Amino acid sequence: RQQEKEQIVGGHEFAAKLYHYILNNSAEGKPALDYLRSRGFTDSLIETFQIGFAPPHWDTLVQYFVKREFSLPLMEKGALIAAKSSGGYVDKFRNRIMFPIRDARGSVIAFAGRTLGNEQPKYLNSPETALFRKSRVLYNMHAARAEVKRTNQIVVFEGYADVIKAWSAGVHNSVATMGTALTEEHALLMRRSAERIVLCYDGDDAGQSAAYKNLGLLEKAGLDIKIAMLPNKLDADDYVETFGADRFRKEIIEGAVPTEKFRLLHLRRNFNMQDNEAKLRYVRTAIREVIAGIESPTGREHYLKELSSEFSAISSFETMKQETNEIREQEQKKRRNGDNNEFSWNTVRN
Ligand code: UTP
Ligand code: MN
Ligand code: MN
Ligand code: MN
Ligand code: MN
Repeated sequence: RQQEKEQIVGGHEFAAKLYHYILNNSAEGKPALDYLRSRGFTDSLIETFQIGFAPPHWDTLVQYFVKREFSLPLMEKGALIAAKSSGGYVDKFRNRIMFPIRDARGSVIAFAGRTLGNEQPKYLNSPETALFRKSRVLYNMHAARAEVKRTNQIVVFEGYADVIKAWSAGVHNSVATMGTALTEEHALLMRRSAERIVLCYDGDDAGQSAAYKNLGLLEKAGLDIKIAMLPNKLDADDYVETFGADRFRKEIIEGAVPTEKFRLLHLRRNFNMQDNEAKLRYVRTAIREVIAGIESPTGREHYLKELSSEFSAISSFETMKQETNEIREQEQKKRRNGDNNEFSWNTVRN
């Protein structure tokens, strides 16, 4: 079994080298190389992340595996190739830009293949195999490790391109969850390497809602969290391309905000702030969902002051404080009665 795994890793390492070679050195790879360059992937980034290209033919990799005497059934088990019903094998990845995915020790265990156009899916990922469990792998953790140790911090993105562009901007302690499905296992994995994280999901609704939803999980793992907020519609990769590396580092990463502030800002999306009734509902929701849940009295006071100075036309600091305390008492009573194992303000509502 162990030997099988080693052979499957061997197949992945070989495929990564081959795809990378094809991207850099063949006529077939040229459109992919042009595409990558047009998106700001420099030769040095392509090298560092061993980006490659899988040509459009059915059996490029299969033929190399035969020539090098790799076991085809094992390579199928590793999901690099697939068996045809008519017999024989075909490549799993065709006509895609290839991003090798490595485990914590740095071995290639999976791939993500991106289309050059708008075909779906945009990224084709290796399926779950004996080597690859998406819920347990953080893209780039291996390379990020040294900087994660040094800074005691991990910057978490959604995607491959985000990690790679962050790297180019000098942010080397970064990983990706490969989508917005951050798992408990991811959180525990992070907690083993660092105490602090900066969550930098895409600025679109999907990314921001996922960030909001993931907070509870990260807090439960005991991580100290900040949120790096991107302008609407942009992700980290877009931001670096549009505004440059310095602004990305200083304004987005170093400008990451505490979770309370992020929660308060995020809740606003659900209310029309031009409307007085809606403002009132926002203030009440903010108190219930966010402020009442802050453990430190100083922290509660701080955010109550902010809220009451912005919404002084609606209610005073004293009244807001009273409302906060009432909610806390209710929640404490509920907890004592044991009819609720979690505070309602920690419950995910989006
Ligand atoms: P995004 O849709 O935000 O893509 O998905 P992206 O990373 O910005 O991609 P580019 O910049 O257009 O190349 C974020 C991440 O979700 C996973 C990938 O890991 C991707 O990087 N994803 C997305 C998939 O696995 N499959 C998909 O079809 C789309
Ligand atoms: Mn190279
Ligand atoms: Mn996204
Ligand atoms: Mn994105
Ligand atoms: Mn992107």
